[in-house]
Amino acid sequence: MRRVYFDNSATTPVLPEVFEAMQPYFSEQFGNASSIHHHGQETRAAVERARESIARLLHCRGAEVVFTSGGTEADNLAIFGTAGAGDHVITSTVEHHAVLNACKHLEEEGCEVTYLPVDGRGLVDPEAVRRELRPTTRLITIMTANNETGVLQTVEEIGEIAAEADVYFHTDAVQAAGKVPIDVNEVGCDLLAISGHKLHGPQGIGALYVRTGTTLEPMLYGGRHERSRRAGTENVPGIVGLGRAAELAGRKLESGDGMGAMRDRLERLLLQIECAGVNGAGTPRVPQTLSMHFDGIDGESLVIALDLKGLAVSTGAACSSGAIEPSHVLMAMGMSPDRARASVRFSLGQQNTMEEVEFAAGLVGETVARLRELSPRAVVGR
Ligand SMILES: Cc1ncc(COP(=O)(O)O)c(C=O)c1O
Repeated sequence: MRRVYFDNSATTPVLPEVFEAMQPYFSEQFGNASSIHHHGQETRAAVERARESIARLLHCRGAEVVFTSGGTEADNLAIFGTAGAGDHVITSTVEHHAVLNACKHLEEEGCEVTYLPVDGRGLVDPEAVRRELRPTTRLITIMTANNETGVLQTVEEIGEIAAEADVYFHTDAVQAAGKVPIDVNEVGCDLLAISGHKLHGPQGIGALYVRTGTTLEPMLYGGRHERSRRAGTENVPGIVGLGRAAELAGRKLESGDGMGAMRDRLERLLLQIECAGVNGAGTPRVPQTLSMHFDGIDGESLVIALDLKGLAVSTGAACSSGAIEPSHVLMAMGMSPDRARASVRFSLGQQNTMEEVEFAAGLVGETVARLRELSPRAVVGR
């Protein structure tokens, strides 16, 4: 059966160039990057080259990049590394669980957390961030791009507010890095999280940008790796893969050869389906993501039916799939539970083609029609 993969926001395939760059570090170049002999020096040099590649993608200095085991750890390090009991933290209701659940844990430890609402497009109002500032506010953590809708927050404005108030600003850029240009100085953030497997690098590797001068408590205790900010022998193949993926993503961004045209075509085709709409319409979104509702159908049923026909999509965050609860992101945008449950996310990667877009749109059209015939009760507007 022909298979088309449109779930790149869950994870992307490792590009052949990335795989090739990683391979020697599993075998010939196996040294521990902390060893002082030849083998260690070789891998140390590879780690530092990868660090510089990340720094170029984010427009920061290599010394400001800390390698972690992924986006979740980078978010956790940013949050637990800067805030604790007695502090106040500002975040939003549409964050990934890597941020939301870290904030919930902080609350249990005696930290106060404000969860800012979003409007119908999924946007946080920067003025609301300003209004919530308190003398005890230590950290603002608001994502750059949402993993379900792709909606881009106005992080530059939030960064300015944070800088004026002298409060740390962390942004989860896991879904934005390599997809839209990021300059940490323009964003005005002190901390920024990225993850390898969302940009055609390997799973289990990520990085946290930490602005020079930021006071960051480590989460792991051990050796003095990563300038004492993250103990543990470096995952050299993963780091090399992330570095190469960042380089390739940077080149794609420069050439303007992104996924926007494919996403826009898919959107136009799917909007021709009766009672369908885009979640997060009317505001800038990352070019790889399209979240849509098809009123009257059950999103999980559509995902399963499409999978049986060879198209892989998702109802939203991979970790919340299988949960009965409708998406917290779509609910926070004021959507009804029925419409949130009728939503599906299509997310593209560099390996996808326009021909796959046409094929997928045809399959979705047929499948939505068939599901509605099977259960014709609740199609709004019919
Ligand atoms: C916005 C966002 N933040 C954080 C993460 C977690 O990243 P990782 O899977 O590398 O731990 C994800 C992954 O889905 C994400 O989409």
